[in-house]
Amino acid sequence: MNGPVGKIIGVGSALGGRVVTNADLEGIIETDNQWIVDRTGIEERRFVAEGEDCVTLAVDASREALANAGADGSSVDLILCATSTAPESMPSVACLVGEAIGAPGVGAMDLAAACAGFSYGASVASSMLASGAANRVLLIGADAMTEVVDEKERSTSVLFADGAGAVVLDRGGGESGFVDHILGADGRMAPLLRAGHPGGEQKLYQNGREVFKFAVRIIPEMVEKLVARNGITLEDVQYIVPHQANARIIQAAARKLDLPEDRIVVNVDRFGNTSAASIPLSYPEIFEKLDPGRYVITVGFGSGLTWAANLYRV
Ligand code: UT7
Repeated sequence: MNGPVGKIIGVGSALGGRVVTNADLEGIIETDNQWIVDRTGIEERRFVAEGEDCVTLAVDASREALANAGADGSSVDLILCATSTAPESMPSVACLVGEAIGAPGVGAMDLAAACAGFSYGASVASSMLASGAANRVLLIGADAMTEVVDEKERSTSVLFADGAGAVVLDRGGGESGFVDHILGADGRMAPLLRAGHPGGEQKLYQNGREVFKFAVRIIPEMVEKLVARNGITLEDVQYIVPHQANARIIQAAARKLDLPEDRIVVNVDRFGNTSAASIPLSYPEIFEKLDPGRYVITVGFGSGLTWAANLYRV
């Protein structure tokens, strides 16, 4: 299939039920509101409440996306969930979502590319739609990062949080859909950011400075590549939706691209870093404002290190 594929027909999101402000963290670790705001831009984040986990967040976001699309769970023919914090190694989060939304028998799988997972997933979904293997895909990014972060480790516990975002993608065939993708990974940088399984001993470790430098380099690089090889200009791009790791990373990338700040989406101040959820969590905030014919670029990066970006024509 030529032309755009994977038209977004519905978007949804879910956040952990517990609002945690910087002041709340001051009571748990040696930190202060000013340090967190200055170094990260984060003012509050949402943690899972009792009874919530990556699966419940994924289900809630999916239900909202389906309702927003006016679609039934049974109309979907592939469920893809990008996550690194499934409560169990098996079954996958996607299978449990399928059960909850009334999609028995529908193909479902998880995809692991850490904070770049949603962008990887958009590429996989587009390929499945383009090949005719699927006509409607439910694509989710969901992570309960508090399950793998040591709450006493101040360099990470102030950053990460819990959420999920979902989009319903139709095959398209019109003017709207994904037109290009970039996928990348380099396992030589694996030691910079890694975490064990939820409930396990190995908590998340991050070399913040090195990942910071990598992110500030890779975001503009991917954006420039997508723009150049598709014969458009940055002016044609209505929004850039970067992974929400740190407001300073986003500001530095915007400066490098010479992009006005109102065209680069920021919600890390309210949601913290929700890993695979951070990009799709942004969709409900911009979906109604999108201008047909313009473009959205989504850019993820994370453990692996992995990186990925998508060019979407509205
Ligand atoms: O989603 C995956 C991708 N992840 C990222 O993109 C994260 C990229 N990295 C970052 O966002 C930043 O590197 C951090 C926010 C993690 C850290 O900011 P930084 O400006 O690189 O700070 P730093 O790690 O160099 O630490 C500076 C100081 C240290 O103290 P000393 O050694 O200078 O005395 C830390 O111990 O800040 C201290 N510190 C804190 N102080 C108060 C570290 N965490 C905290 C804290 N509160 N929560």
